[in-house]
Amino acid sequence: MSTTGIDLLTPERVADPYPVLAELRSRQPVFYNEHYRAWFIHRHHDLLAALKDPRFSSDRIRPVFEHKLTESQRRERAPTYRILGEWMVFRDPPDHTRLRKLVSRAFTPRAISEWRPRIIEVTDSLIADVAPRGRMDVISDFAYPLPAVVIAEMMGVPASDRDLFKGWSDDLMVLVFGARGVEGRRRRAQNGLLELSEYLGGLVRRFRAAPAENLIHTLIRAQEGDDTLTDDEIVGTCILLLFGGHETTTNLIGNGLHALLAHPDQLERLRMNDDGEYLRAATEEILRFDGPSKMQVRMAASDVDVGDQMIRRHEMVYLVQAAANRDPDVFADPDRFDLERNPSDHLGFGFGLHYCLGAAVARLEGSIALDALVRRLPDLRAGPEPAEWHPTLISRGMDSFCVSYTPSEGTAA
Ligand code: HEM
Repeated sequence: MSTTGIDLLTPERVADPYPVLAELRSRQPVFYNEHYRAWFIHRHHDLLAALKDPRFSSDRIRPVFEHKLTESQRRERAPTYRILGEWMVFRDPPDHTRLRKLVSRAFTPRAISEWRPRIIEVTDSLIADVAPRGRMDVISDFAYPLPAVVIAEMMGVPASDRDLFKGWSDDLMVLVFGARGVEGRRRRAQNGLLELSEYLGGLVRRFRAAPAENLIHTLIRAQEGDDTLTDDEIVGTCILLLFGGHETTTNLIGNGLHALLAHPDQLERLRMNDDGEYLRAATEEILRFDGPSKMQVRMAASDVDVGDQMIRRHEMVYLVQAAANRDPDVFADPDRFDLERNPSDHLGFGFGLHYCLGAAVARLEGSIALDALVRRLPDLRAGPEPAEWHPTLISRGMDSFCVSYTPSEGTAA
């Protein structure tokens, strides 16, 4: 196989990226792909080393904005850059350290456990809607709305504004995943992003004046010594949480159910097992086997040797989690989906300084959702229409996933 310009987004590789990633991991674990003008790194131990190494910088938006755009592109995209520039995920220490410390105040185990009852309620109401129908699109009918409603409520968005909010979040996904250089779409998405940030700015002002029990107010109150978050930082962080926490959780639920339905023996084990610990381990195996994040992106801040390759300063680097999570040096029989594996060292949430801040929320939502789907929809099976995977490099998920089941009330067994 010639790998210099290999296209990772052919329909077959989008539907099942694992065979090509296995071949790359064993034959060319570190290589420069001309097609994407970036390095790809596939082995688990190389990813761990890179994620600990400050020469692999997360500050990758600013250099592109400052050095790779024309003057008119810079002017055009400045508003987007101003918002993305606030995101901790694109910062290195010390800026990252400061933001992460302050925002972590909203993600304590206690704060997250307080969301549990509401996640269960939203899940129950979605199941009650779909159960009598006998079929649904898991993505649009269940896995998309669940995290959307949960995150909007967490932020204190009134129910009457939910649809507005949803429109803007969809625009944001287009901007980050789908704009692909089409200026019209990019502009529309940027306008949506600006409206969203104005709206969130209004909520920040409202909750400063009249405190409420929600995530925005927790961010307003967050303090380290004399340091607090500015309004722009709170708005930027809320948009990051929306972006980072929504589609990923949708895909955890979708990919998880897809894997379970393709492995009926494992699905049966999950159904038979009431133990919360088993469900927790099952969620980890889903994150390893077919997690929502295929790759993390970094930029070389200086020249770095990886194996026998030299990565030059300012070159882009993709750390391929989907390949590392099936590395046979770390996971025995890695292509086997095994809910009893309990893989503590998968990289589905990343590793190191930028380890997913919302991992506990995602685990909670994902496990409540999957448990409800497999227990409350009798004779659940995939189809009749085939699943449609979306063709993006860094995320793994479906645009549509139809399932059928025996119609019921959908109440707990
Ligand atoms: C299954 C669902 C999720 C997956 C697979 C996932 C995956 C990831 C990964 C791989 C990173 C590291 C990015 C990097 O190093 O460049 C990350 C960071 C982050 N995630 Fe998640 N995520 C999920 C859900 C969530 C949720 C629900 C939230 C919030 C409610 C969230 C908030 C964040 C934030 C704020 C960061 C940035 C952390 C930092 O830069 O220090 N994520 N996530």
